[in-house]
Amino acid sequence: MRQILSIVILVFVALILVESKSTTGPRVLVLLDNEDDKNLYTKFFGSLEGRDYIITYKTTKDPNPSIELFSYGERVYDHFINFAQKKDKTDSINPTSLINFMNDGGNLLLVISSEITENIRNFARELDIEIDERDTSVIDHFNYNISDDGKHTLLVSSNVVNNEAILSKEVIEGPPVLFRGIGHKVGPVPLLTRILWANDTAYSYETGDDQVVDREPLAIGNSIGLISALQARNNARVTLVGSLEFFSDRFFDSPVQKPKSSESYSKSGNEAFVNDLAKWTFQEKGVLRVTSRLHYKDEEYEQLEIYRIKDNFTYTIDISEYVNDQWQAFNGNDVQLELIMLDPYIRVNLTALPTTIEHQENQARRYKAHVQLPDVYGVFTLKVNYKRPGYTYIVDTTTITIRHFRHNEYPRFISAAYPYYTGAASMGIGFLLFCFIWIFNKDAGKSTAEKKKLN
Ligand SMILES: *[C@@H]1O[C@H](CO)[C@@H](O)[C@H](O)[C@H]1NC(C)=O
Ligand SMILES: *[C@@H]1O[C@H](CO)[C@@H](O)[C@H](O)[C@H]1NC(C)=O
Ligand SMILES: *[C@@H]1O[C@H](CO)[C@@H](O)[C@H](O)[C@H]1NC(C)=O
Ligand SMILES: *[C@@H]1O[C@H](CO)[C@@H](O)[C@H](O)[C@H]1NC(C)=O
Repeated sequence: MRQILSIVILVFVALILVESKSTTGPRVLVLLDNEDDKNLYTKFFGSLEGRDYIITYKTTKDPNPSIELFSYGERVYDHFINFAQKKDKTDSINPTSLINFMNDGGNLLLVISSEITENIRNFARELDIEIDERDTSVIDHFNYNISDDGKHTLLVSSNVVNNEAILSKEVIEGPPVLFRGIGHKVGPVPLLTRILWANDTAYSYETGDDQVVDREPLAIGNSIGLISALQARNNARVTLVGSLEFFSDRFFDSPVQKPKSSESYSKSGNEAFVNDLAKWTFQEKGVLRVTSRLHYKDEEYEQLEIYRIKDNFTYTIDISEYVNDQWQAFNGNDVQLELIMLDPYIRVNLTALPTTIEHQENQARRYKAHVQLPDVYGVFTLKVNYKRPGYTYIVDTTTITIRHFRHNEYPRFISAAYPYYTGAASMGIGFLLFCFIWIFNKDAGKSTAEKKKLN
């Protein structure tokens, strides 16, 4: 009995010590159509396991009720990867459960193909992504891999987002990627980012034998999204990839060559691309955090809650970025500070200080702003609202009170009041003069009259 107990405790300790590289947790659920599909993506799953994720594989054929994203109201997984193109038996992966998972902070990597389920389509609609109809593919008669001499659905694309928070520089400038699958259209929601899209010559259509296009495609040209992502307001990330094969070992190792082009690559860019994409989706990249903030009146270096109008005031905030499994100093040049009471009274750029702040093994960069508080008293909010594509959002607020001058803090003499001072002073002087004259002036007329009386 005691042995069993100690083994259980050991297993627990081991589980706690296993820390994945993700900032939001190691538990991953992978949903497949068949157990065997795992063998198509060994490199992708291998790289996840290499980064200490705890992966649970489920298939859509699993009996009741095994695919659960929540148990007793608690999220059971931190990340969900969908490779399944069929509905699961229990229909537990439905739009509502996916939305709940996202609202609870879970990250989603949804990989779909032309056989997409309605559940995923409806979920994508909630995010303002419209996926093209079943059995359509993205076709491009100019940018396909030279081995595809029939339907031209094996696209070669290098239209990737130029954002180093999402994809590293090597991937952005690296070899093109291979893509075969369904396209989508991205709405104007500002939380959405397109990561890979089609070239101007592409269109999205059914791949029938004759390929006659007799109605307008959902999307044409570079408005066709191939991979898009959404970062929700709670920083949960959802990435939608229109191609299953994009993750396959076959595409990872495939040479790439476009027709009528001398450029050829011995290996496609898929592997590096997928690694970056998974890292970003599972919050290993582009994650920011605020480590501390401080505000003080100049020359006093003491954080107060009440300041006076027109005080000269300094605000600092320390921000770190998660890079290569470590918190490092974040280098942004567009962080701003706002002083808000209903409307912003002051909005200034924060300047990054050149030295990094070290705290144990973590680093942060300090940003500083120096302002004079406005001539209005009341309760104000100091707000750093930093939302940039690819990075997690920072909304950091502090409340301060600004009071008016105390009566003894006003200046003694105001130049505008000199007429009044002169008025008051001249009044006083006049009064003194009058008294002086009144008291010490002898009334000559009266005295002669009195003399007359006496006489
Ligand atoms: C792409 O074309 C190259 C060159 O013909 C070929 O070797 C490779 O197998 C093709 N890739 C795929 C996935 O078909
Ligand atoms: C689109 O394809 C054409 C023809 O292959 C190529 O010249 C062009 O650079 C591509 N456009 C982009 C944005 O990659
Ligand atoms: C704040 O600084 C400004 C300019 O440096 C100066 O004119 C002003 O008197 C200062 N205010 C206070 C309250 O120290
Ligand atoms: C603040 O920074 C932005 C972006 O770097 C710049 O466009 C703007 O002019 C700056 N504003 C001030 C007041 O310096």
